Amino acid sequence: MTQIASVHSLTLSCMGAFRITIAAIYRACTADMARTPVCKRSVNERTSMSRINRPAALAFVAGMILSALILRQPGPAHGASASAAASQPAGADELAALKADVARLKEIVTDQSHVMADVSNHFANLWFAGQNENWPLAQFYADETHSHLKWAVRVIPFRKDRAGRQVDLGGILTALEQTSLKDLDDAIKKKDKPRFTAAYQQQLTNCMACHQAASKEFIHLQIPARPDSNLIDFHAPPAPLQ
Ligand code: HEC
Repeated sequence: MTQIASVHSLTLSCMGAFRITIAAIYRACTADMARTPVCKRSVNERTSMSRINRPAALAFVAGMILSALILRQPGPAHGASASAAASQPAGADELAALKADVARLKEIVTDQSHVMADVSNHFANLWFAGQNENWPLAQFYADETHSHLKWAVRVIPFRKDRAGRQVDLGGILTALEQTSLKDLDDAIKKKDKPRFTAAYQQQLTNCMACHQAASKEFIHLQIPARPDSNLIDFHAPPAPLQ
């Protein structure tokens, strides 16, 4: 039973490593998207790197060898097989319970659109914080926008576009982190309203570039007319008492 369990966990780790390897192979923007300015940078950077994640590939091969060695070990002696058979139902129950847990977790885990709705809320509020030169609040909303974008691409790192090509959402976000998201952050840190306004508009365009790449071009964005929240006072608070 322990042998079966260890082979099972080795197989799982092999599958994990294999998935990482496959992800690394696909971690280049599609040729079509390479034309969009957001993606150009990530494609250039990625194609100059090795496309195969070597540690993951090595882990995969090592896992395969270990599994093979364990599988080659002689089976339990004749007398022991009865007790192994007796413990079989408990193992099967455990596996069924695990499968049920995984299925339940998959059902309750958040979806990408939910996380993006949060991004939308933070990014809309960011506009009003910046226009009111409330820089601490602007920094808060810029950071939340960034961390929720990262979460969104963890939820679904790759999406198929309309033509069935794999779109590397994580790669696009990395390109944004090095360009427009960084510019926005700099403008906030420098408390520079004209720069903030320009950087915000650029980021909005880049948000849509990703929607376009993922064949979601109908999620077209605009500078918000009203904040997403009625509750937040966007004016800069008075200075704290000394
Ligand atoms: C890395 C790619 C990517 C980036 C960058 C991105 N989005 Fe999205 N966004 C998506 C995808 C994919 C969906 C559709 C999710 C789905 O269908 O489940 C989406 C959906 C949305 C939605 C619709 C959510 C809903 O269900 O109502 C909004 C609003 C949105 N994004 C706003 C933004 C804003 C604002 C930014 C920039 C600050 C942004 N997105 C940046 C990929 C991206």
